[in-house]
Amino acid sequence: MPLRPLSLGLARGTHHMKVMPQGTGPSVPHAETNSSNIPAIRMLSPGDVAAFRAIRLESLRQDPHAFASREEDWLTISESDWRQHLVGNTIFAAFEGETPVAIMGLMRQRAAKMAHRATIVMVYIRASWRGSGLAKAMLDALESHAAITNIRQLELAVRADNAGAIAFYFKAGFAEIGRIPGGFLEDGQEFDEILMARRTRRLPTDNGATP
Ligand SMILES: CC(C)(COP(=O)(O)OP(=O)(O)OC[C@H]1O[C@@H](n2cnc3c(N)ncnc32)[C@H](O)[C@@H]1OP(=O)(O)O)[C@@H](O)C(=O)NCCC(=O)NCCS
Repeated sequence: MPLRPLSLGLARGTHHMKVMPQGTGPSVPHAETNSSNIPAIRMLSPGDVAAFRAIRLESLRQDPHAFASREEDWLTISESDWRQHLVGNTIFAAFEGETPVAIMGLMRQRAAKMAHRATIVMVYIRASWRGSGLAKAMLDALESHAAITNIRQLELAVRADNAGAIAFYFKAGFAEIGRIPGGFLEDGQEFDEILMARRTRRLPTDNGATP
């Protein structure tokens, strides 16, 4: 379901961003989407493989310790595999002009009795945009999508030594719900994996029937 455009004010700094519906953004004349040259957030469609590949590979290259995947694993996947990721998951990106500068994805559980849960994945903000509120705006966009698609619970996993990400998630209301000792193994060294979760905030239209 496409999102309605949302204007988002930021907690810090002087930036202002817009959330655009799926399929708009860089292909739409710049002045219509984002007149002040700051990131517009939108859901990627299967036609956005080039932008998806660019920002995902950037994230794995720039912050290799933050992710479970390695850049070399993603460098070799086919065009159709990239597209399949966009078909099977909900992935948002933020664009500065035509350039993707941030990415955040949502992987919904497939089984019927778990389909109210989704895992936040591929979280990355280009270094020049960190601390600007873009990360929170991306999370808000993901959460709006989650709420309208009846996802009740957001979950994620983060490496225990990733203090910046953990601080961001705590600030966004996530709580630690578990820890997998030695969940990450990199270059022979083990790191714990912290599991975090929080309920999706209800939309004003929610009838309150959910627990
Ligand atoms: C995680 C990430 C998306 C957060 O975005 P951000 O713009 O840095 O987030 P924010 O600035 O809104 O919040 C981060 C908070 O952590 C704090 N922080 C940043 N680095 C920190 C560190 N090394 N130790 C402790 N706190 C830290 C910030 O000060 C901020 O808190 P504040 O608002 O109280 O000052 C971004 O840092 C990023 O892309 N990191 C690299 C990839 C990554 O780690 N992804 C997560 C994989 S699970």
